[in-house]
Amino acid sequence: MTNRRPSSARWLEEHRTDPYVAAARRDGYRSRAAYKLLELDSSLAARSGGKGLFRSGDAVIELGAAPGGWTQVATTRVGERGRVVALDLLPMDPVPGALILCGDFLDDAILELLRAGLGPSGKADVLLSDMAPNMTGFKVADQGRGSVLVETALDFADGILRPGGRVVLKMFQGPDFHDLVRQARLRFTNVKVEKPPASRDRSAELYLIGTGFRADPMNSPEDFSDRGMPCESSNRH
Ligand SMILES: C[S@@+](CC[C@H](N)C(=O)[O-])C[C@H]1O[C@@H](n2cnc3c(N)ncnc32)[C@H](O)[C@@H]1O
Repeated sequence: MTNRRPSSARWLEEHRTDPYVAAARRDGYRSRAAYKLLELDSSLAARSGGKGLFRSGDAVIELGAAPGGWTQVATTRVGERGRVVALDLLPMDPVPGALILCGDFLDDAILELLRAGLGPSGKADVLLSDMAPNMTGFKVADQGRGSVLVETALDFADGILRPGGRVVLKMFQGPDFHDLVRQARLRFTNVKVEKPPASRDRSAELYLIGTGFRADPMNSPEDFSDRGMPCESSNRH
């Protein structure tokens, strides 16, 4: 007889049998989440003539980094000439090659620290966000808080990304979803929304991959707002 609540018992059982958990242990990743980024990177490379998310020497900003699986992937991909600035609300053990900041992305002072972490140029080639708000169980409030994180990340991208830059943003399905994808399409020449195999079926998370950041998003040649379902339309790219 156990006193565990059904949800925690299910989590433990899933964790015990999850092949990605086993792979993370084998490969030395801090989280199974590392495989989501690896899968998104491979998927982009497969449809872009071998060009994935990262280039050697890239500057990367990473939001929602703890415990550090994505940070491990990003530092390896950009190499010694690259730079990774990783932020989380929670403290995180060091990752060689990464500057780790602890704070709230929604705090203006933190935005300045992130920019400063990029060095004198203040510019990044890649912006990653795996941020997920703490779920309260109130669907509308949780969706709203998730949307604020994505919208703020897109605004932040405007100030820091180099032309041609790339983003990966965790998103949640909800009433703002289509508008957020539309906002991304104004900024990036290619936008695709994917659910990588490592993302659990029962999770509402999806990932937006944007490539080809426009130097001047406000003068975007097209508004894609009338193109219907972003997941379907993303297949066109
Ligand atoms: C799914 S976890 C990230 C896992 C990570 N990508 C990895 O590979 O290990 C989501 C993280 O987002 C962080 N987070 C949520 N809201 C945030 C905020 N406003 N500012 C900074 N981090 C935030 C949480 O603390 C949590 O650690």
